[in-house]
Amino acid sequence: MLRALHGSDDRAVLALLSDERVIQYMLFPRFTEEMARRFTERFQSPEPSGAPAQVVRGITEEKSDALIGLCGLVLDDQRTQGEVWYLAAPTHWGRGIVTTAARALVDHGFRRLHLHRVWASCLPENPASGRVLEKLGFRREGVHSANLRIHGVWRDSYTYAILAREWAAV
Ligand SMILES: CC(C)(COP(=O)(O)OP(=O)(O)OC[C@H]1O[C@@H](n2cnc3c(N)ncnc32)[C@H](O)[C@@H]1OP(=O)(O)O)[C@@H](O)C(=O)NCCC(=O)NCCS
Repeated sequence: MLRALHGSDDRAVLALLSDERVIQYMLFPRFTEEMARRFTERFQSPEPSGAPAQVVRGITEEKSDALIGLCGLVLDDQRTQGEVWYLAAPTHWGRGIVTTAARALVDHGFRRLHLHRVWASCLPENPASGRVLEKLGFRREGVHSANLRIHGVWRDSYTYAILAREWAAV
């Protein structure tokens, strides 16, 4: 299930975004309590918020409201393209949860936000993330050399993308 964040999610957000296993391939810095509080406060709206405008959803299991992951869609200035990101607590990996969550968020991007294209970055060292994108029908468009500075180190990355017309045909 996807839902907007609640004020009480700050502990769960902190647990997720201070876990080295979760953030090691992501641009997120290691979160402090204050950063988790501000992030949670900022993304309680179901509509795109912040600058750049971004939709963030908490991932929960069907029978519990507890946050087990997060996903987001960062919109460009014209709000025609979005970059999708996702993460889950390691105890929940490998169960298809993130693929299901990301599918729902990308669908929201195309159907409700009327995006033209959704894209994602993924490090070659993170094949599980690439697999999530492939299962959703994203194409790998290219590889960039040392274009993302992840925790102080310049890393290569793949760009994956899917167009609205391709999504409609998946
Ligand atoms: C990447 C991540 C989101 C995947 O979440 P998940 O819930 O395990 O994803 P799913 O179960 O939906 O799918 C994972 C797929 O990757 C595959 N996979 C897992 N580890 C793999 C590996 N080392 N090599 C290749 N494929 C792998 C799984 O088999 C599965 O594919 P399948 O359904 O065809 O078997 C999760 O590992 C995570 O939160 N990582 C930390 C945050 C992160 O890196 N986010 C992505 C930033 S780009």
